[in-house]
Amino acid sequence: MGKDSWTKICEILDGKKTNEVINLRGWIYRTRSSGNIVFTIIRDATGIIQATIKRGNLPDEEFENSKKILIESSIELEGEVIEDKRAPGGYEIKVTNVNIVNSADVFPITEDQSTEFLLDQRHLWIRSQKLSSILKVRSTIVGAIHEFFRKNGFYEFDAPVLQPNQCEGGSTLFEVKYYDEKTYLSQSWQLYAEAGIFSLEKIYNMGPTFRAEKSKTSRHLSEFWMAEMEVAWMDLHDITEIAKEEIKYILKKVLKDNKKDLEILGQDIKKLEEISNSGFPTITYTEALKILKEKEDMDVKWGKDLRTIEEEKIMKHFKTPIVVTNYPIEIMAFYKPPDPNDPKTALCFDMIAPDGYGEIVGGSQRSTDIDYMKKRLKDMGESVNNYNWYFDLRRYGSVPHSGYGLGVERVVAWICGIDNIKDAIPFPRTITRFKP
Ligand code: 4AD
Ligand code: MG
Repeated sequence: MGKDSWTKICEILDGKKTNEVINLRGWIYRTRSSGNIVFTIIRDATGIIQATIKRGNLPDEEFENSKKILIESSIELEGEVIEDKRAPGGYEIKVTNVNIVNSADVFPITEDQSTEFLLDQRHLWIRSQKLSSILKVRSTIVGAIHEFFRKNGFYEFDAPVLQPNQCEGGSTLFEVKYYDEKTYLSQSWQLYAEAGIFSLEKIYNMGPTFRAEKSKTSRHLSEFWMAEMEVAWMDLHDITEIAKEEIKYILKKVLKDNKKDLEILGQDIKKLEEISNSGFPTITYTEALKILKEKEDMDVKWGKDLRTIEEEKIMKHFKTPIVVTNYPIEIMAFYKPPDPNDPKTALCFDMIAPDGYGEIVGGSQRSTDIDYMKKRLKDMGESVNNYNWYFDLRRYGSVPHSGYGLGVERVVAWICGIDNIKDAIPFPRTITRFKP
């Protein structure tokens, strides 16, 4: 693609350009000068490298300009690559020509700045080494999800972003003025996917999802990306096994493509490798409460949802993600059916990540019982008429079917080992922020 004579920094670091004269373009990452020499670190999308500019090696005027250059200026340079153990990465460029493409103003971001300041400067901060590495891992994860489903015979199927119905409870809907009416931003692709399976049987999608989450946590965004799947003829057990395979597929791909990024992020690579080669246990909600009681001396009343603190305590006893099934039906969405073997629980599951990253996947078998769903919706104060199109799916050739959604940013945060989900997406939206 686009053959050109520009060398990428990764090629130099891989030792492919040693003792060659190369042309490089990028941005000034660090710079300091002393007398007749300027030490700079240049970055491009593939890495960072030291470049030394010496008086005498290039025209005097160019040297003087190089001395004044500020970080984040964009430059093109020519020079010889030499091996130098003392330089970061083990290589250095001896510069013989410099062209300043844009001489940057004083960069507003310096060390030790507050999280809020960095979020205000997000458009500039995404250039940082940490965020660049996270964004590369994110790109691998998104690619791996598409690959996983396509390899397994799923079709990509798109749903509207503007939707007339809730899927996951009215309290987190974002209302949108729609000409003279009102509509909502998508909370989930699911209800439309349940129509799509009658045409394509196995489908998936990844897209922006919106929830007006009223609390400020390190795990919730107001706009996030969900990767969802829906399949005809499959039950709860079938899809939990697919979810486990998907997570392992993603992990293996990141371990193959992003070792350097995981190192930059200080992530424990061995730990991730072990997880990618392990089985993930499945337990029930009731068994989870038993672990809390017996091993953590924590009494959770049966029927209450698991909060962050409880999920963290449970995960102290597991090294890999786990699947928790059969949550109390009362606290579940209207479309989750009762388990015939234990009707006070639903045929549903969450996958919980280790180390406090919480729920990364949520899904269920889908109810095929119109009366049951009508009753649940009525109890929630929903207008049942809005769901008539959805009930049609149970009237014309209904089949058992199931699906789940994976929170892309949750998985990115867990795999990268970062402490706030905001850094798992380029421009986070939360209850207190929708800018820049
Ligand atoms: O568990 P949730 O709410 O499930 C659904 O929306 C189903 N309709 C999906 C389906 O069956 N097709 O959301 C799925 C996942 C969660 O497990 C979590 O990882 C992520 O989406 N998630 C969020 N991620 C970031 N910020 C938020 N506010 C999130 N809410 C859910
Ligand atoms: Mg959930």
